[in-house]
Amino acid sequence: MGSKKYKIILVAGARPNFMKIAPLMHALKDHPDIESLLVHTGQHYDEKMSHSFFEQLNIPAPHINLEVGSASHAVQTALIMERFEAVCFQEQPDMVMVVGDVNSTAACSLVAAKLHIKIAHYEAGLRSRDRGMPEEINRLVTDAIADLFITTSRDADENLQAEGVAPAHIHMLGNLMIDSLVTHLEQTSRMELKLMDLNAQPIMDIWSDIKYGIMTFHRPSNVDDKATLGILVQEWIKVSEQLPLIFPIHPRTQSKLEQFGLMDDLLRSKNIYLTGPLSYLEFLKLMSHAALVITDSGGIQEETTYLKIPCLTVRPTTERPVTIWEGSNQLIKADEIFNKAIESLAKTSSDYTIPRYWDGSTASRIIKLLEDFSSASMG
Ligand code: UD1
Repeated sequence: MGSKKYKIILVAGARPNFMKIAPLMHALKDHPDIESLLVHTGQHYDEKMSHSFFEQLNIPAPHINLEVGSASHAVQTALIMERFEAVCFQEQPDMVMVVGDVNSTAACSLVAAKLHIKIAHYEAGLRSRDRGMPEEINRLVTDAIADLFITTSRDADENLQAEGVAPAHIHMLGNLMIDSLVTHLEQTSRMELKLMDLNAQPIMDIWSDIKYGIMTFHRPSNVDDKATLGILVQEWIKVSEQLPLIFPIHPRTQSKLEQFGLMDDLLRSKNIYLTGPLSYLEFLKLMSHAALVITDSGGIQEETTYLKIPCLTVRPTTERPVTIWEGSNQLIKADEIFNKAIESLAKTSSDYTIPRYWDGSTASRIIKLLEDFSSASMG
C-alpha cells in the first residue's frame, strides 16, 4: 500500500453541471495520488434531465445520490445540506469540488466550509450583477467561501480580485463545457436523429438540408410572467415564418405555457417543432448545424461562441460577457427577437473569435492544478 491518496468529492446536481463534471471524472479515473468520488445531489433526477447525460457523457454512476428532487429553493438547499453533511462526515474528504452556479453548488460549499474542508469552485468569478437571478446568489455565496478559484475567462479573474480574492488563488484554465463539446461533436456526425415533435410528427431531417434555428427557454424571469411569455410566443412565431425553429421545452416552460393558455398557439404554428428536453448528443447535433440559436441559458452562450453560431440571449445581463466581446452572443429584449434574428442571419463566422483556453484541454490543466495543490497540502 502506498501513502494515503488525496480525496476529492466532486458535486453534480443539475443538467448544466454534468458536461462540466464529465471531463474531470475521466481525467481523474485511476489517478495514482487523487481519489475522486462523485456525489449527485438529485436536484435534476429524471431520464431526460439527468440519466441520459450520464449515459452519453460516459460518466460513471454517482457513488452517492442524495435524491433531493424538486422543491422550493430553501427546502431544496436545506435538504442538500443536510444529506451532504452526512456524506462528508462519512467520507472525510480533503476537498469538495463544485461547478457552476446551481443550488447544489452553493449548498455543498456551505457544508464544506463549516467542516473546514477545502473548496474548489470551477466557473468561479462569473457575475451578472443581477441579484434577482438565483444563480447570481449561488455564485456570490460560493465564491465568498471557496479556497481555490478556477475561472473560464479574464473578466472572472478581475471580478474576484475586485472582491478581495488574492490573485494566487485564481486560476484561469479555460472551459470544461468546451472539453465535452470537442469530445462529442464528431460522434454526433455519425448519429441518426429520430425525433418526434409534440404533435407526434417526425421532425424531418431538417438539419441536413434546410436552414433552421434552435431555441431554449427556462429562466423564471422569462417564463414565469404571463405577459413576457406571451410576447416571446408571438416573436417565436414571427421568426418561424422566415426560419423554421426547433424548440426543446424545459419542464418549467411547458407547465407555464399550459398554465397561461399559450401552448395551443405554439402547437398550431407549423414551423415550430416542439419536443421535450433533448439528450446532450441530440441537442449538440441540432445546435451545431443551426443557423441561429435563441436562448436564455448560461452554457449555450458559451457553446455557440465556440461553434461561431449567432446566439440571441433574451436577458438583460449576462455573467459570461466574453461571449459578447469575443464570441457570437448578444443580449436582446423579448420584443426584439424577430428583428435581431433577421440581422444575425446576415453575419458570418469570421465576425467572431474563440476565447483563450476554450480548446478541449481544460480538464488536464485542472488536474495539474489539483495535483500541485494536493501535494502542497499533504506536505
Ligand atoms: C436549474 C438551475 C439553473 C439551470 C437549470 C437547467 C438553480 C437555482 N437553477 O433551474 O441554473 O440553468 O436548472 O435546467 O439551481 N424538473 C423535472 N425533472 C427534473 C428536474 C426538474 O421535471 O429532473 C422540473 C421540476 O419539477 C420543476 C422544473 O423542472 O418544475 C424546474 O426545475 P428546477 O431544477 O427547480 O429549476 P430549473 O428552473 O431547472
